[in-house]
Amino acid sequence: MIDIEFNDDRAKGFVSNQDIETLQERVDRLHDGLENKMGLGNEHLGWLHLPSSTPSSLIDSIITTQKEIRDKCDAFVCIGIGGSYMGARAAISFLSPFFKQSSNPDIYFAGHTMCSDYYSDLFRTLEDKEVCVNVISKSGTTLEVAIAFRLLRSFMEKKYGKEESRKRIIVTTGPEKNPLNSLSNEEGYKLYVIPEDIGGRFSVLTTAGLLPIAISGVDLNNLMDGALLAESALTKTSDLGQNLAYRYAVNRHCLYQKGKMIELMTTFNCSFRFVLEWWKQLSGESEGKEGKGIFPASVQYPEGLHSLGQSVQEGARNLFETFLLLEKSSKAIKIPSDSDDLDGLNYLQGKELDFVNEKAYKGSAAAHLEGGVPSLTLILKERSAYSLGQLFYFLERVVAMTGYLSNVNPFDQPGVDQKKKKIFILLNKPDQRKED
Ligand code: PA5
Repeated sequence: MIDIEFNDDRAKGFVSNQDIETLQERVDRLHDGLENKMGLGNEHLGWLHLPSSTPSSLIDSIITTQKEIRDKCDAFVCIGIGGSYMGARAAISFLSPFFKQSSNPDIYFAGHTMCSDYYSDLFRTLEDKEVCVNVISKSGTTLEVAIAFRLLRSFMEKKYGKEESRKRIIVTTGPEKNPLNSLSNEEGYKLYVIPEDIGGRFSVLTTAGLLPIAISGVDLNNLMDGALLAESALTKTSDLGQNLAYRYAVNRHCLYQKGKMIELMTTFNCSFRFVLEWWKQLSGESEGKEGKGIFPASVQYPEGLHSLGQSVQEGARNLFETFLLLEKSSKAIKIPSDSDDLDGLNYLQGKELDFVNEKAYKGSAAAHLEGGVPSLTLILKERSAYSLGQLFYFLERVVAMTGYLSNVNPFDQPGVDQKKKKIFILLNKPDQRKED
């Protein structure tokens, strides 16, 4: 049994049991297509059985590198964008303490922004620290990442000289020849390879995500064991009564067919913040193509209830919500009693924050449903690497199946590639031919 509960009760007025049952046969066929590599995009299915095919020697090698890095640095800069960055950021922010409490290196991100002030602040911050850098780009050609790496390389070489910098820079890239692995071979950087058959947004459990995640102190074996459990449970059956990833996918598909074009993923637990960002990228790039696809959005509650909440309750009726919740916080906090009760809160004294959060979830979900917004709920058992490994894999299966249900290839990203090309043309990159 996986650590993820799925509930579609609040979507029943919009998606009937019959709607779901009617899709069972199609889901069975699509599941077989996925498993037998007969479906769309089957050259990018390396993620499907990645947890069971990752050799323990790779995990051991990453753990060894992590120990070496920890010994020599207190600042680890992770350069990447999109799928080569968001998974690591999601895991690190979900599993790390909110305020620094450990001896693990601080992790800084770069390559996801072209903001000058960000880099000037980053370099100032890194000046007094011992720094290591990991650049992650499967194609090795992504502009933002290449620029950030050039900036960081120059910073490192000034700070440490060329030779020492070489020992502090790690490259993670695809196996095909590209400018990044050429540079890496030339300089003799340590190199990790992202498998060719795994696209960026499905790469969190490859070297792209695993090294930075390990540096933050997460136990990779727990993360991979969780993913493995989900892989086995979700491979075994496509029965919509048992395969909850597919049940979620079918609900999403039906809601979309009924005009609910936007999925607002919401949470009452702020450690999910970057998991939501990762999810939006996974879903948006996988499903939004050929004029189709749910538009994934996210908001954190209760903050969002005091801003977007109005629009959710009474705005255009083209959205559904998915609540991503934690069954239980790692530490319970109780509301203290106060003999004066001047703030009038004694009716909650002794109650845990989780209790208030649960009522806020139930109250919002009920109000939104009355307002015409159906919702689905995912509940993750705990804030642990083991549960998160399951969630990553679970959500990958969800988007693969939702994409297949709308007859799109969930594993390519022609729109992203088109935009990358246009930017290169505007920047006069020498090898880009002007087509318009
Ligand atoms: O999911 C994807 O494929 C994209 O978001 C890529 O990860 C992103 O564009 C970065 O690409 P690369 O890893 O080649 O630098």
